[in-house]
Amino acid sequence: MKIGILGSGLMGATLGRLWAACGHDVTFAYARSEEKLARLARQCGAAHGSIAHAVEGADALLLAVHWSRVPDVLEQAGSLDGQVVLNCCVPLNDQNTQLVVGTTSSGAEELAKRRPGARWVACFNTTPSESFDPVFARKGGANPPQVLTYGDDAAAKDIAGGLIRDIGFAPLEAGGLQNARFIEPFALATVELAYVQPGGPALVYHFEKLGG
Ligand SMILES: NC(=O)c1ccc[n+]([C@@H]2O[C@H](COP(=O)([O-])OP(=O)(O)OC[C@H]3O[C@@H](n4cnc5c(N)ncnc54)[C@H](OP(=O)(O)O)[C@@H]3O)[C@@H](O)[C@H]2O)c1
Repeated sequence: MKIGILGSGLMGATLGRLWAACGHDVTFAYARSEEKLARLARQCGAAHGSIAHAVEGADALLLAVHWSRVPDVLEQAGSLDGQVVLNCCVPLNDQNTQLVVGTTSSGAEELAKRRPGARWVACFNTTPSESFDPVFARKGGANPPQVLTYGDDAAAKDIAGGLIRDIGFAPLEAGGLQNARFIEPFALATVELAYVQPGGPALVYHFEKLGG
């Protein structure tokens, strides 16, 4: 699958590297230094280029930038009509302390308003990047950790689900995009658990229903 990474930082670089290791054709885009993108691409047998280059012909895109960079990335990305976009962004202020969208809307819904033709799937926004390598290393084991996965396009969610499984997680169906109103605040709970509470940042979760 041809995957364009729009934002090659902690989330984008790690997910792109792992998808490349699974045999996907990955293009890294959007970092402050071209050299960083080139190095990343070299390290994992991937490509790098502009946002427009990463978007063109991609089967799936990952949007992985700070909320403040979203307008710039979308402008460079164009209409995104018909394209599957996995969105892991949490709509945070510059200090990363508060949500700047919430209760009556969400980051995911605002993105869908800005690019209504794109096939948005929210996922990985409640999963710290530090967990990706250890989960990938355990891929194939029993009870894989889950990734809350939500959006209004079932076929796009299937594509996202495949990419989530590829790196050792299980997609947890979490309904429509509007549920971002509840899930994006939960991302801040995972930040507390990963980065403030003891035990290190490689936090994963596994919900369980006991109803049989
Ligand atoms: N990190 C996590 O564990 C985590 C977990 C869940 C959700 N999220 C969400 O995922 C999104 C991405 O987070 P992240 O931690 O991956 O962020 P990050 O490490 O800061 O990566 C963002 C990328 O955007 C690039 N960038 C920033 N400003 C730029 C500019 N002016 N021009 C070009 N490129 C620019 C950065 O370039 P450089 O590489 O040069 O810095 C970096 O590659 C955020 O919305 C965050 O809330 C993160």
